[in-house]
Amino acid sequence: MDLFDRQLIFVVGKGGVGKTTVACSLALAAGRAGKKVLLCEVDGLSRAAQLLGVDAAEPGRAGRMVDGVSVMGIEGSAALAEYLGMVVPVRRFLQAVTQSELYQYFVAAASGLKELMTIGKIWYEAQRTDERGGGRQWDVVIVDAPATGHGLQYLRMPSAARDAFGAGLVRREAEKVVALLSDPKRTAIHLVTTAEEMPVNETVTMARRVREELRMPLGALFVNRLHTEQFRPADIDALLAAARSSRQRDTKLLLSEVASRAAEESGWTRLNKRYLRELERDVPIPRVELPFVFSEEFGRQQLLELVDQIEAAE
Ligand SMILES: Nc1ncnc2c1ncn2[C@@H]1O[C@H](COP(=O)(O)OP(=O)(O)OP(=O)(O)O)[C@@H](O)[C@H]1O
Ligand SMILES: [Mg+2]
Repeated sequence: MDLFDRQLIFVVGKGGVGKTTVACSLALAAGRAGKKVLLCEVDGLSRAAQLLGVDAAEPGRAGRMVDGVSVMGIEGSAALAEYLGMVVPVRRFLQAVTQSELYQYFVAAASGLKELMTIGKIWYEAQRTDERGGGRQWDVVIVDAPATGHGLQYLRMPSAARDAFGAGLVRREAEKVVALLSDPKRTAIHLVTTAEEMPVNETVTMARRVREELRMPLGALFVNRLHTEQFRPADIDALLAAARSSRQRDTKLLLSEVASRAAEESGWTRLNKRYLRELERDVPIPRVELPFVFSEEFGRQQLLELVDQIEAAE
């Protein structure tokens, strides 16, 4: 399905639907396919590094590569300081600038600037050549974007900057970033959702905005945490009847507990099916369906189950 055959991939979606989980699974699948992957976590809490079981490096630096994947936390003000470091080569002078109160005030006030620098940093990593002057440093850069509204705001920054600056350095830099972001051969915006009302509504709006407002290439739609009916309705009725007629208290409790969990699962499955149909109709792009993985804690083992699914879809 061509899920990670791009230079730059953004993973966007409503809060809590599984963006970090999907971004990590994609990164591992791409790593297994032999790619050098950089997974960028924007303003995150190093949850990606944690999930992959690697140490988080300081913001703006790539951590040690494990299984083909390196994780980098990207933070707006660190990216800005790094950029200034490139254009203002005298380190002592630069330190005086970044530590000044005026600068701190400026960065806090101009929040769009931090977002612009974040995207700039991502662009820099995506086209960076390796130090030995060979090919690109990374085959693919995967970005775990912040929750929806904010995530799209980052993507809008380069064209906003291009339009705001008539000529000169900023405009030229912004144009290069826009060119990469809007090129379907090099970039894909993957959407993540669960098959429930609110996330689906938000996903429909988001898909439209990516296409019509941002004019960026949509990739695939990942529908996460899908439930599967384990018992037929007749089986659930039989369980309930058995619970009612049982004379043993423990057995009664156990049977009715199983019956109610099974009924709950069936309910979720029906709901998921209904919203899958809506997605099919309203967001007609390639779809990857990922199961709800049941476990006490979602860790590497659970992640690997999703990696298998992604490999099968790819
Ligand atoms: N397929 C799955 N099966 C079971 N649990 C899942 C699955 N995918 C994600 N989860 C769980 O759902 C929760 C949210 O996932 P995740 O952190 O990836 O979402 P997110 O979209 O990145 O959230 P945020 O918007 O807060 O960054 C986590 O507890 C995660 O372990
Ligand atoms: Mg997240």
